[in-house]
Amino acid sequence: MEVDRRAFLATVGVGALEFMSPEDKAEELEHYMEHMLDDAITARDGTEAVRYMPDGEALALAELQQEPRSPRGTGRLFMPRSHEYAPMSTNPTLVEYFEKRFAPANHVLQSATYALETGQTERTIFACLMHDVVLNMIKVDHGWWGAQLIEPYVDERISWGIRYHAPLRFYPDDTVGYEYPEMYNRIFGEDYVPEPYIARAAKEAQEHPWYMEARLITLNDTYAFDEDKVVSLDPFVDIIGRQFKQPKEGLGFDNSPSSHMWRTIMNPDRPL
Ligand SMILES: [Fe+2]
Ligand SMILES: [Fe+2]
Repeated sequence: MEVDRRAFLATVGVGALEFMSPEDKAEELEHYMEHMLDDAITARDGTEAVRYMPDGEALALAELQQEPRSPRGTGRLFMPRSHEYAPMSTNPTLVEYFEKRFAPANHVLQSATYALETGQTERTIFACLMHDVVLNMIKVDHGWWGAQLIEPYVDERISWGIRYHAPLRFYPDDTVGYEYPEMYNRIFGEDYVPEPYIARAAKEAQEHPWYMEARLITLNDTYAFDEDKVVSLDPFVDIIGRQFKQPKEGLGFDNSPSSHMWRTIMNPDRPL
């Protein structure tokens, strides 16, 4: 997918750019690309979309820049929107979250589909499916949040990989064919250096025996912005059944260390 630098920068808003760190810009870009992808696919299929900003595209750039904006670190669930989310059942499953809260989820579905089609392990396929779902809730440091969200329910290597895919995005690895994304050069400049905490986390991951768990997520990530690809959750339902320990009380009601995060995703409108 081609990213128009000017259009991307315009969505960030006047004056905001100069206060954004390169990490903020990278997070914003990733989120922007996912929504561009969802919008392109929605237009292609003629389906109703859950919109990033209602009527966002219809606004002139100048107007867009003056629109009051939600803080950039918040996810789509907390953005202004024109519809209510479907109520969830009393015993929600991960599949139900995909259908009612994460949909259309093209980016993670494309990433997992690529892993599936190229014969990667089921653990990696599932990690790809889950690697960015937390962006619906929060964008800041999404690798860490994303890992925490699923940690109680998955093999430790899966959440570990999701945690470290975020810092590793900035570091190429020739051995697996992961190149530094060319788009980062165009958007952040050739001289961009990640913040020290990102560099430390990446080094930690590079020296860890589980390094490839995270590296493969970044690799599959780069194949997951395709406007022409048709994906569905169906091929992953059995994989979810094997890789995700669905709590019998329902996801969000099981009193795990991340149940509250699932309830937040379930109820983004609750004032308290
Ligand atoms: Fe990500
Ligand atoms: Fe991603």
